[in-house]
Amino acid sequence: MKGIVLAGGSGTRLHPMTLAASKQLLPVYDKPMVYYPLSTLMLAGIRDILIISTPEDLPQFRRLLGSGSRFGVSFAYAEQPRPEGIAQAFVIGRDWIGGEPCALALGDNLIHGDHLSTLLRAAAARPHGASVFAYQVRDPERYGVVAFDELGRATDIVEKPDAPRSNWAVTGLYFYDARVSDIAARIKPSARGELEITDLNRVYLEDDSLHVSRLSRGYAWLDAGTPDSLLQAATYVQTIQSRTGMLVGCPEEVAFRMGYIGAAELLEQAQAIGKTELGRVLLELAEEHAT
Ligand code: DAU
Repeated sequence: MKGIVLAGGSGTRLHPMTLAASKQLLPVYDKPMVYYPLSTLMLAGIRDILIISTPEDLPQFRRLLGSGSRFGVSFAYAEQPRPEGIAQAFVIGRDWIGGEPCALALGDNLIHGDHLSTLLRAAAARPHGASVFAYQVRDPERYGVVAFDELGRATDIVEKPDAPRSNWAVTGLYFYDARVSDIAARIKPSARGELEITDLNRVYLEDDSLHVSRLSRGYAWLDAGTPDSLLQAATYVQTIQSRTGMLVGCPEEVAFRMGYIGAAELLEQAQAIGKTELGRVLLELAEEHAT
């Protein structure tokens, strides 16, 4: 399975911070925001990853991420000239996807929790249909919202409804089968002029092949699109990391734990990060496993 990180858009809700910088490169505590969705895809076992951003910001992503070899993965890059919708990622990425199944992670989403890798790998391994994750929130009207029948089956999915039929928001992490580019190519722009990811998901729902996993309270799902949510995400990462000594959303660590790189490569990465707490934790991990 391939994976896309969508990291474009204009970040208007974070102006003036995003007037001269990409939102997805802003720091979430000790790492650039894009590291978190990137780590999520890598945890799902995905190593072929397309980064999509604006023509202005894409060079900065290349500078930060390079070929991917230091994380044991391979990055490709593509421009989205205008923010014409999340589902456009599959139109832009169509040739690169090459008719394979493909996942999509929004560049401002952070998902964290126990056994996340198992959950993600199960979604990636599902050969038919689409898999999305739903999370209970206080303000569902800000998101795509999924409703369920009494047997827990998804019955309806609506983008930013005025009167939400549940408080289950659809997170910004999606797994699709090989049909995704063809389906995305047939979607029409919504009233706000975007190719909506919710419309793509609705095609799968109507085909009876949308799998919705409800994330329990043991998981954290945060997006970082406003000053408040950016601060909350940073505080979350700081709290977990300083309390447990374990890292959140660190691609170097994920690469090592997933076996994409060895202890020697991890050591090199830790040394490159230098004298920071993040570098120190990675150094310790590498030295623990050095032979
Ligand atoms: O965060 C989950 C939610 O993300 C879902 O529940 C919604 O169904 C989905 O539509 C989306 O809602 P948002 O209001 O958060 O979408 P937003 O326009 O903020 O875009 C999400 C991210 O994707 C953001 O970091 C910018 C990027 N993006 C967005 C669009 C529309 C692009 O790179 N290109 C685009 O064309």
